[in-house]
Formats: sequence, structure tokens, C-alpha cells
Amino acid sequence: CCGIIRSMSDSPILFLDSGIGGLAYYRYFHARNPAETIIYLADRLNFPYGTKERTGLAAVICSLVEKLHHKFRPKLVVIACNTASVSALDTLRATFRDLPFVGTVPAVKPAVQESRTRRIGVLGTERTIEDPYIARLASRYGQDCTITGLAAPELVEFVEHGISGATALERRRAVLPFIEQFRRCGVDAVVLGCTHFLFLREEFAQAGAPEMRIYDSVAGVARRAELLLEPLGRPESGTPQRSLLLVTGTMPLEGAWLHYAQSFDLELRLLQDIL
Ligand code: DGL
Repeated sequence: CCGIIRSMSDSPILFLDSGIGGLAYYRYFHARNPAETIIYLADRLNFPYGTKERTGLAAVICSLVEKLHHKFRPKLVVIACNTASVSALDTLRATFRDLPFVGTVPAVKPAVQESRTRRIGVLGTERTIEDPYIARLASRYGQDCTITGLAAPELVEFVEHGISGATALERRRAVLPFIEQFRRCGVDAVVLGCTHFLFLREEFAQAGAPEMRIYDSVAGVARRAELLLEPLGRPESGTPQRSLLLVTGTMPLEGAWLHYAQSFDLELRLLQDIL
């Protein structure tokens, strides 16, 4: 008489970014929570987010979440993108009142707690660095600190379109100008305020050593997601469904997507084909 009623605990978790940046967040979360099914959406069509203005960006992201909400009924949404979080989280929470969201914001707090020089560097997109949220973070946690924000759109571009084919030397060279600029400002704590930069974490750490420490929000985002999942329930048991890598836009897909799908063990699909 009745179909199978899927319980909330078996519903998927949605991850969203403009491209590959959030995959580092996905990997960390998935390793700790292997039974959860994840739908990772890369909004390749609207990449990059960081050069867009706030209102338009919030509308784009809301409309994507609307479609995915309708299709998959996720139990939780992780906005694995700083730019999308500072631009759209307020609107998302006001629009989808029953859906819990986890945002990604630069890890300014731990950087402020540990900095000796009291000089913090935040590296992000233009949209993130100019957003009042960053100034609010700074005045909340770092009143006695000088915070230098640098926008690095070329680095976002390098990661999204070049990192899978880049040599070790190219990767090292890509981070150097930013580390040098922070060094000139006496910064000893560098906050990676764009999820794409996680693909260059090692290079940042090496170039910044020994005096600079690198901070990111990967563990903080996973912990927050796990906290929100507790009352929602965890998948019963058995093998989870294969997680998906959904990509916006149309064919042909750049070859790197296949590479990412394989290396993160995700099933690659175009969003428009499954809606
Ligand atoms: N990954 C995104 C972030 O964390 C932004 C990249 C883009 O500009 O699309 O800010």
C-alpha cells in the first residue's frame, strides 16, 4: 500500500561551492562521517563568485538551493565557500526556515588567539575581503590586532582551472607574492579565507615558515555540521549511496572534473541532467 518512507537520518547533506574549493571540506567531513551521503554542487556556470556583487550572488545561490532542496530534500546544507557564506547566508536562512545551514567564514578567531605580533593576514576573494562581516569578525575577536585583508582573484582562478596540471614549482610560485606581502606587514598568522586555497595549504605553510602559521576552517566547519546533525539522526547502517559531484552549466565538461570525481570517489553528473 505504501512506498518506502525515507527517514530524515538517511537524507543527504548538501555541500555547495562555486567550484572545487569545497572539496577539501568535503574530504575532511566524509572521512569522519563515512555513512552520510553527500551531494556536492560546484556552480561552475557562475564561477567565480568572488568578483560578483552581493545581491546578485545571493539570488543565484538561493535559486540553486531551492532546486536542490526540491530534488533531494537534504537534512543539512554546508556552504563550503566563504564568498557565498558572507553574501547569502542571511537570505538562505530567512528563505529556508526549516533547513539548517553551516557557513564557512575565515578562521580569524584562532589566529587572533595565537598571534604574537598581533598582525593577522586574511586572504580571500574581493567579495569576502570587502564584506562588512570581516570587519565585524576583526572587531569582535581582534581589537588589539591589525588585520590585513588581501584579495587574490588570480589565485582562485589558478586553483580552479590550473591546479590539477600545475607543477610543484608553479604551485610554490603562486603563493609567494601573498606571503611576501604579509611578511612585509609583520603578519605571523595567515587565514585562508577562501576554500580554494586549501589546495595550496602545504605551499602556504612552507613559504610562510618559520614565522607564519596558516589557519583554515576545515575542522571547524565539520564540527559545526556534526553538532547540527546530532538531533537530526545519523544513517541507520549499511552502505551509503554513492555521493554525487554535481556541476552546473552544459557539456563539454573540462577534463579536470573527471579527475576530481575519480580522486574524491564521487559520481559526476551535470545538474541540468538530473533535475
Ligand atoms: N571558494 C570560494 C570562497 O571560499 C570563492 C571562489 C570564487 O571566487 O568563486 O570564497
